[in-house]
Amino acid sequence: ALTQADPAKLAAARAAVALVEDGMRLGLGTGSTASVMVRVLAERVAAEGLSLRCAATSKATADLAQSLGLAVESLDDIGWLDMTIDGADEVDPHLHLIKGGGAAHLREKVVAAASDRMVVIADPGKVVEVLGAFPLPVEVLEFGFETTRKLIRRALEALELGDHDVLQRLRGSDAVVTDEGNLILDLHLGAIPDPVALARALSGIPGVVEHGLFLGMCDLAIIGREDGSVVELA
Ligand code: A5P
Repeated sequence: ALTQADPAKLAAARAAVALVEDGMRLGLGTGSTASVMVRVLAERVAAEGLSLRCAATSKATADLAQSLGLAVESLDDIGWLDMTIDGADEVDPHLHLIKGGGAAHLREKVVAAASDRMVVIADPGKVVEVLGAFPLPVEVLEFGFETTRKLIRRALEALELGDHDVLQRLRGSDAVVTDEGNLILDLHLGAIPDPVALARALSGIPGVVEHGLFLGMCDLAIIGREDGSVVELA
């Protein structure tokens, strides 16, 4: 229930849902913060009878939204979105993000790229000066997985980010498999001084399906605080 939600996440979610207008086409993010937002949104839709078209960034979010009575359509049926509201793992002062802690960053990026606005909701723990303390998620094809890992290591060395762990994400002893059937590598870098260079290098590796750096995509970050107030970064 919403009364049990983390107050910082709830504050950010409420502020973001306040931006929703009747008739909007909305992208729904993934993760615990986005889940709170979906609940707040469903409440508002029920209370005000808003008519929205929603696309989800994961199966988990689609299931949650539908269970709360929100109509979820495919991105292609909607065609384009007015706004996407999503969480993030890290936000820096340029509004560059790390995402993918929930292994959903591929669909999240596709949805954000098809949105006029991307609004990020987060708690203060996600705000950083320099990205990279959170391990960078990279979605990788199963075909040639170890070769792709080698190429990623080589790219990190070329950027003088070498000698860091590049770990396959597991749940227990099973590989984590994304909604698109791919695997995840987490790059434990500590700090990413040049996210643009790293994003370019990773995108140049054929087995990399998508990395979790979202650069120049976020238009507004709403940071909720424990006391229920919010700070906006734009
Ligand atoms: C999902 O893949 C991620 O990009 C999430 O948006 C991110 O992990 C934030 O999740 P929480 O809101 O649960 O921290």
